[in-house]
Amino acid sequence: CVTVALVRGGKSMRKALSQDELKKMVGYKAVDDYVQSGTVIGLGTGSTAAFAVERVGEKLKSGELKDIIAIPTSIRTQEQAESLNIPLATLDTHSDLDVAIDGADEVDPALNLVKGGGGALFREKIVEMCAKKFIVIVDESKLCDGLGPGFPVPVEIVPFCHEHTMRKIASLPALKGCDPVLRLGNVANNQPDGDEPAVTDNGNYIVDLKFTSPIKDPVAAGEQLKATVGVVDHGLFTGMTTACIVAGKEGIIVKD
Ligand code: 5RP
Repeated sequence: CVTVALVRGGKSMRKALSQDELKKMVGYKAVDDYVQSGTVIGLGTGSTAAFAVERVGEKLKSGELKDIIAIPTSIRTQEQAESLNIPLATLDTHSDLDVAIDGADEVDPALNLVKGGGGALFREKIVEMCAKKFIVIVDESKLCDGLGPGFPVPVEIVPFCHEHTMRKIASLPALKGCDPVLRLGNVANNQPDGDEPAVTDNGNYIVDLKFTSPIKDPVAAGEQLKATVGVVDHGLFTGMTTACIVAGKEGIIVKD
């Protein structure tokens, strides 16, 4: 729990909010501040993004939002959106998005991200790169001084000769010192919870790169990963964030 200052009826009071309440605050605020009627929006994946999806559904139902078209970034998000009657499309029909909203696993001071803890990094990246605005929603536990040691960097790789690809990844100069671990079990959980490789929505595997010190150059690390045959995409989202809405001790702050 963290403490968030709340002001009610002119009186300031402090109330301990759970992590879920913080996630809901940022999810709802992102939709209230950045989603307008008649727009095409990207819907992220994860427990924080799920609150933004919930808010879009709620506002469509009440009529506060109209004529939204949404592009989901995972099968999970697609199913949630369908259950809320949010009209859906894909990048095949809508390549230009007005805004995309998603959570993150780590956010550095330059608003570079680690994403993919929920195993959806490829669909997240392809959708979020097409958005005019990419709004990141996190609680303050996700803020870090440097990407890497606080949360393993997920990389989506093709199953064919995946052990070879993992060795190639470990030998990349910009990723020196990383320990690549094949994700097992449920793809949405980066703690091992099974014996078989976790399989993404795209039929691929995830390798979680563990670091003991911050990645010196996340842009170079991303470029070297992307240039490795066998890698589909990686969870380093650099230079993409328009604004990051953070919930924490001092309430909600927006970093941009
Ligand atoms: C899924 C993601 C999520 O956005 C990220 O893992 C954060 O999830 P949560 O909001 O549940 O902490 O990248 O692939």
